Amino acid sequence: MATKVVDDKLLKKIGNTPLVRLDSLSSGLANAYAKLESHNPFGSVKDRAAYWMIKDGEERGILKKNESIIIEPTSGNTGIALAGIANLLGYKVEIVIPEKASEETKKVIESLGAKLYQTSDDLCPKVGAGTDQSIALARAISQARPDLYYMPNQYENEANFMGHYKGTGPEIWKQTEGKITHFLTGVGTGGTITGISAYLKEQNPEVKTIAVQPQQNHLIQGLRNFVESDKPVLFKKRENLVDDWMTITNEESFASVVRIFEKDRLLVGPSSGAVYAAMEKLKIDKGCVVGIFADDGRKFKSLYVQQKVFTDEQFEKALKESKYLSDISFL
Ligand SMILES: Cc1ncc(COP(=O)(O)O)c(C=O)c1O
Repeated sequence: MATKVVDDKLLKKIGNTPLVRLDSLSSGLANAYAKLESHNPFGSVKDRAAYWMIKDGEERGILKKNESIIIEPTSGNTGIALAGIANLLGYKVEIVIPEKASEETKKVIESLGAKLYQTSDDLCPKVGAGTDQSIALARAISQARPDLYYMPNQYENEANFMGHYKGTGPEIWKQTEGKITHFLTGVGTGGTITGISAYLKEQNPEVKTIAVQPQQNHLIQGLRNFVESDKPVLFKKRENLVDDWMTITNEESFASVVRIFEKDRLLVGPSSGAVYAAMEKLKIDKGCVVGIFADDGRKFKSLYVQQKVFTDEQFEKALKESKYLSDISFL
């Protein structure tokens, strides 16, 4: 049975995450900010997509309370978000995850009551023939019992885009008082980058969107390298919104995780390290740069210790000294 570690008031807290100034990257007329998506109730940017996809499934009459099972392939954060939200709303959840996802992530998903299937995929379920075992397995299970199962399919679901177009984009526009000039984020399904960018460019077509991708064979949970993986349908629909791409290595991402802690006192997840490294490379003298920090570092202790990003002691110290950690009890 699902452990009730959350209550429904949490659902109202999805979105409206803080935007904090990164002193380490700001100087003169250039200001850099991080949008701290770890402040969503289940700890990441994916709370938005999960909530919008479940609501959409309810509105379209596909989901039936205490009956339907939601099944989804994910490299982690969508699984945590779906498990937490569905648990509150009365749906069972089954998550198909690559075995290389962090142990902490898998534990959290199970503690939120979801059943876990592990596949031997690379870190991110890859879209494209022959490389997408997580996606194929989730699809096979849901197609075998369409009366019971609903697969939101974040890689194609328009509600994923809408959560950002109606939520994150307007929040950033308001929080920067319309001053934003550059927007950077990693790409998983593409919901975050296309939703935010579409809204921002409608307000000011001059806003530049920069997509951050990890190197091939990467260790950055949640992001994709598009030489290794096909582009998801959701992303391809609006990929013309991307003005530039930056590729960041594992080493650069992890070095940035340490730097963000040392200079800005934030303990962040690996993808935020990648985004920070890209923000640093931008080198603009004037403007307002916003990067999406998709989650915090708490789920990544084993990865950070294994990759020698932090020692055990350094990680515990960072945990104590980090500013802006949300009060999520299960991370
Ligand atoms: C950990 C993580 N998950 C997901 C995303 C973005 O996800 P999507 O493209 O699916 O909206 C990001 C983007 O930075 C991320 O860092």
